[in-house]
Amino acid sequence: MTEKFDELHQSQDTEAVRWLYGEYSRKDLEGMDPVCLRALLRERVHHTIEVELYPALTGEKQAHAKMGSQAALVWEVWRSRGLPTEEPDLQWCQQYLDIAARVRAGEKVQINQPLPEPFSNQEMDVVRKLMWERRSIRDWVPNKRVPDELLEKILEAGRAAPNACNLCVVRFVVIKDPKQQKMVWSDIPTPYDRCTLIVICYDRRVYETVGHDRLVPHNMLLDCAAAGDHMCLMAHALGLGAVWLTCTEKTAATFKKKLGLPDYIEQALHVAVGYPAIASIKSRRLPLKDMVINQE
Ligand SMILES: Cc1cc2nc3c(=O)[nH]c(=O)nc-3n(C[C@H](O)[C@H](O)[C@H](O)COP(=O)(O)O)c2cc1C
Repeated sequence: MTEKFDELHQSQDTEAVRWLYGEYSRKDLEGMDPVCLRALLRERVHHTIEVELYPALTGEKQAHAKMGSQAALVWEVWRSRGLPTEEPDLQWCQQYLDIAARVRAGEKVQINQPLPEPFSNQEMDVVRKLMWERRSIRDWVPNKRVPDELLEKILEAGRAAPNACNLCVVRFVVIKDPKQQKMVWSDIPTPYDRCTLIVICYDRRVYETVGHDRLVPHNMLLDCAAAGDHMCLMAHALGLGAVWLTCTEKTAATFKKKLGLPDYIEQALHVAVGYPAIASIKSRRLPLKDMVINQE
């Protein structure tokens, strides 16, 4: 299995992308939906260049002579179709593709990126405050909507969250209209007319393109959860109050229908955000000793 994986991972074919979960000819790539093609590019750059490069940089393993050839084919097709190349995720792909080309040319490559440094005590106080003071808020000040510039900061925080295989599967639907918000079900009565709802979804096509819907489908939900957590933390830092709202299948189906969302957009959770009116007593967690289950 590992050998097969290695072999396919670094396929020398310049006319097809072949890997464990499928195969795309150049013609397939030329006809592929740009959302899917971009996901394939990002995944191929991540798995066949970024991840492969570490052992080569440390000298543990020699870089594959054809490193990045599959990603290079996808990139070539992307550009030949006249699709945009300037956006940061594509520029990132370009950077790694350039590195792979240098590796293929036999160059000993170094990546000079700054390493993480421990935060100062003052910075740590802020981090601690953010993590331990955030709480779920379930009632908001009436007639006081979250302004767009704050909403954008919250969405940006969701965008910054980690994502599996660099596939960027998460999508957001922002609902400001209280009438539409009423479609959401929650076990706790939520005054929807006082908050803005952010529906955190994923685009199923992205995983289907690279076969991860069969291999690691749960990662789509985990990506949404990571985004949700980032957003709630940012809301708290902005002096707003947010809460996760469980999204049942029934809610999701009603939502999809009423909002006319495409079939491939699936909802994972909803985050409600507004100006806090009532703060609950901050809930406390289990002691760490009860959470670390292999403690001696
Ligand atoms: C996956 C998930 C689903 C949740 N669903 C709801 C929900 O439907 N309604 C609600 O009021 N709170 C919901 N919450 C918030 C939790 O109740 C809350 O995080 C927990 O009680 C801890 O309180 P705290 O967030 O104030 O620390 C959810 C949280 C998570 C992580």
